[in-house]
Amino acid sequence: MDTALTRLVGVRHPIVQTGMGWVAGPRLVSATANAGALGILASATMTLDQLRDAVREVRSRTDAPFGVNLRADSADAGDRVRVIIDEGVRVASFALAPSAELIGVLKESGVVVIPSVGARRHAEKVAAWGADAVIVQGGEGGGHTGEVATTVLLPQVVDAVDIPVVAAGGFFDGRGLVAALAYGAAGVALGTRFLLTSDSTVPDAVKARYLAATVKDVTVTRAVDGLPHRMLRTDLVSALEDSGRVRSLSRAVRRAAGFRRLSGLTWRQLVRDGLAMKHGKDLTWSQVLLAANTPMLLRSAMVDGRTDLGVMASGQVAGVIDDLPSCAELVERIMKEAEGVLQGLTASR
Ligand SMILES: Cc1cc2nc3c(=O)[nH]c(=O)nc-3n(C[C@H](O)[C@H](O)[C@H](O)COP(=O)(O)O)c2cc1C
Repeated sequence: MDTALTRLVGVRHPIVQTGMGWVAGPRLVSATANAGALGILASATMTLDQLRDAVREVRSRTDAPFGVNLRADSADAGDRVRVIIDEGVRVASFALAPSAELIGVLKESGVVVIPSVGARRHAEKVAAWGADAVIVQGGEGGGHTGEVATTVLLPQVVDAVDIPVVAAGGFFDGRGLVAALAYGAAGVALGTRFLLTSDSTVPDAVKARYLAATVKDVTVTRAVDGLPHRMLRTDLVSALEDSGRVRSLSRAVRRAAGFRRLSGLTWRQLVRDGLAMKHGKDLTWSQVLLAANTPMLLRSAMVDGRTDLGVMASGQVAGVIDDLPSCAELVERIMKEAEGVLQGLTASR
């Protein structure tokens, strides 16, 4: 299927596996790339050296194009951009809108820039700054998310910008791909669906929690870091929502210390990242610290398998997913179904 996305990045299928912290590592990304879709490495949870190693590992497993997701507001975003350029990575994806300057540097070196946005005005802004395409995530999507559903946000953004739009939030099958194309999107980006594959390194116990979830078990809370965050509802989420400010501050400091050790960031960088997230938002100090080390909470689940201690970011689609195909099986299944749906639509006219 030939779309503006497949032409832009040189993949066979208009499907993106999004950058998910601790989840989208070299194994998942290379499996996605070998399946003909665009895999994106999540780098916010890696040190610079780990990022370079991860990029090289993906390259050793596939010749297909892939991308790297980073946080534009992180203290060392410039260094990460350098790694992307030096290592010849095809696509740079951003969790928060990158500056015009960063976009310029990447584009000058031939890197395709695809920021993720959750609102029309953000899409307009990054398009004006030179982004090559946008991933637009509706409220059903996992992780930090907005309030507007994909069915409303997607056509709104498609009408607002002239660059290719990739639809995210709530996609898991071929019907969704055709629906997104009908809205004018150039493809779909899937997070939760790729987390739930046999190629994903997420521990089995954690995958089992997702598979068992119904749509009602997926919630949005601000209790973790002050920002609306879609995840599985667990005892930890309920406890965070119930706990007072003093207790959560001491917990936040402990977690920040752990993340600092793992990420190699200095306290100054950590606080700077937290303050960047606090900017313009009414966050408490404990939320600022938690915001800077939400990755630690994700790690407990996604790497250590602690379903009791960790945050399990999840889209609503977890409630309708009940199997663990390989990336190759998943991509093939989505494309086959999409072709069938398209043929059915033409035949029934
Ligand atoms: C476990 C998990 C971790 C995520 N981490 C990130 C991240 O580090 N950066 C980012 O831009 N988006 C992150 N997201 C959001 C996804 O990239 C994607 O936009 C979203 O999952 C799409 O919605 P879906 O889950 O309905 O497919 C995360 C999502 C999940 C489920």
